[in-house]
Order: sequence, then C-alpha cells, then structure tokens
Amino acid sequence: MKHHGNNIRATLQNNAVRVENALNELFASRSVKSDTLTEAMKYATLGGGKRLRANLVYGVGGFFGASEKALDAAACAVELIHAYSLVHDDLPAMDDDRLRRGRPTCHIQFDEATAILTGDALQSLAIETLLSERFNPCDIETRAVMAETLICASGDEGMVGGQAIDMEFTGHLVSLEDLSRMHALKTGALIEASVMLGGIIELQRGARELDILSGYGRALGLAFQIADDILDHTSDSETLGKDANSDDQQNKSTYVSCMGLENARAEASQVCQEAVELIQGLDGDTRFLENLAEFSINREY
Ligand code: IPE
Ligand code: IPE
Ligand code: MG
Ligand code: MG
Ligand code: MG
Repeated sequence: MKHHGNNIRATLQNNAVRVENALNELFASRSVKSDTLTEAMKYATLGGGKRLRANLVYGVGGFFGASEKALDAAACAVELIHAYSLVHDDLPAMDDDRLRRGRPTCHIQFDEATAILTGDALQSLAIETLLSERFNPCDIETRAVMAETLICASGDEGMVGGQAIDMEFTGHLVSLEDLSRMHALKTGALIEASVMLGGIIELQRGARELDILSGYGRALGLAFQIADDILDHTSDSETLGKDANSDDQQNKSTYVSCMGLENARAEASQVCQEAVELIQGLDGDTRFLENLAEFSINREY
C-alpha cells in the first residue's frame, strides 16, 4: 500500500484526530475544569492546526513499533509546547498578530495576561504529560529521557533561543548562515524533538538510527520554516488562517527577504530532499516519513 496522494492526507488526518482525542482526554482529567486559564489553554490547543509534530511522533513511533500510549503522551506533549510557542509568538511584544488557526489569537480572545499564563501553563503541562506515570506508561528512566529531549529543544538552546534571535534580527540584514541557525532553533529543534520522541524505543540505546532520525528532523524542520516564510509572503490570511504578510510588515528576516522567492523555493526543495534521502537510510518502509518531509514544503497553509 502506498502512502501517496490521498493516502498520505488520510493518514495525516487520522493522526490529527488521534492527538486531538488524546488532548481532549488530557484536559478532561485536569482537576480545574472551567476557569479562564483552563478555557484559554483549551482554546489555544484544541480544534485546529495541521498536527505535523504529532504526525512525526506517530510516523516514527509506528515505524519502530513503540507503545501506543507512550506515543499519545509524546504527541500531546509536542503539540502542547507548540501551542504555547504560538500563543507567545503572537503577543503584541513579539509578532503582534491577531489571527491564528482561523480564529482570534489567544490574547485577542482573552487578554494579554491570560495569554502569557496560558503559554506558561501549557509548557508545564507538556512536561507533566511526559514525566507522570498517569499519562506515560514508560519506565521512569525513559520518561526522564523523553522529558529531557523535549525541554532541551524548547528552551534557550532550542525554540526560545531561536525566538530571541528572531527578535534581535528583526529589521536587520543578516547572513544566510545566521538565518538558518535561527530557523534551526525556533522551529527545527521542536520538530527534531518530535521525531526523536517517536524513536523512544531507540532513545536510550544510542543506536545508529538516532543519528538518522536527528538529521531527518533537522532538515525537515528547516524546510518547514522556509516554507512558512514563503507562505507568509505569497498566500493570504484566509488560506493560512493566520495573518499573511506579517513578516514583511514587521521587517522580519526570512528566507524570502534574504535570498528572494525563487531561491527560497529552491532551497526548501533541496533541504526537503536531504530529509528524504536521510530517512531512506532506515531499514524498512519509510514512505510515510518521506511523504511528511514533502508535505512540510508542499502545503497550502
Ligand atoms: C507555525 O507552525 C509556526 C511555525 C513554527 C512555522 P504550524 O504551521 O505547524 O502551525 P499549525 O500547528 O499547523 O497551526
Ligand atoms: C514561529 O515563527 C516560530 C515559533 C512559534 C516558535 P513565525 O513567527 O514565522 O510563525 P507564524 O508564521 O507566526 O506561525
Ligand atoms: Mg515569530
Ligand atoms: Mg509569528
Ligand atoms: Mg511565519
């Protein structure tokens, strides 16, 4: 059976539904069920998004035969960190955007204080999900390695570090090398962590597979963010479900502003091709993982 065309779309969709259900269950199990903070956390997390990161967890995890429940915990955790990063990224002090996933951004729907706290709480919940036996059936050592993997990709040496560079670079001309470092951190790190968490069975073995997974995750993450830069420039807010032209308006440093649209497109396909070739180095049927790399650049939003 091939994962091409409609088939990859169906698998993407099934995995999206699967993580959405797992997230719903997670929120249903919380002791506080209906204050503003809880509402805002659900608003930011549920009902939207392509769920690429969850798909990477399930795709890689399925390849290695990891336990379903551990993968649900990992998929929830990466989507929670991602949702937190979006809530903070949209704040007036950062990208100052009003539309996300086709709806008002968290700080517009609620208020800024709530949006800041929502991001903070989503981050804590992500780590709780990986560490707590209630959600993650792996042994304590594996749970610790999973939490370490995700939190290292989220902080100053990962997503937050990249966001800080993004702020610093806004309005400046930067080299391609600096830009690729920024993208690798702000977007690549969390995408790579999603891939690695899918490989939890291998995570503690230091296996040859880990290098392949890490290279694949990094390349896919970079390709994905270049595509994000391109879409911001070429698409419209309705299609994207978020504010188009946000980068140009704010004078952001992007692959499009740095090398022009056509070069950015060529770069995205080349980096995507790297991801595809790397993952083909695994023994087994890697077609879905190849398709995920292609999807990261061939997408409408
Ligand atoms: C948007 O990520 C922010 C980036 C890191 C580029 P996605 O494009 O994955 O956002 P959703 O989850 O599908 O809304
Ligand atoms: C976002 O990059 C990266 C993170 C949220 C960590 P962008 O600022 O380009 O993402 P969008 O375009 O707002 O989704
Ligand atoms: Mg941003
Ligand atoms: Mg943004
Ligand atoms: Mg963008």
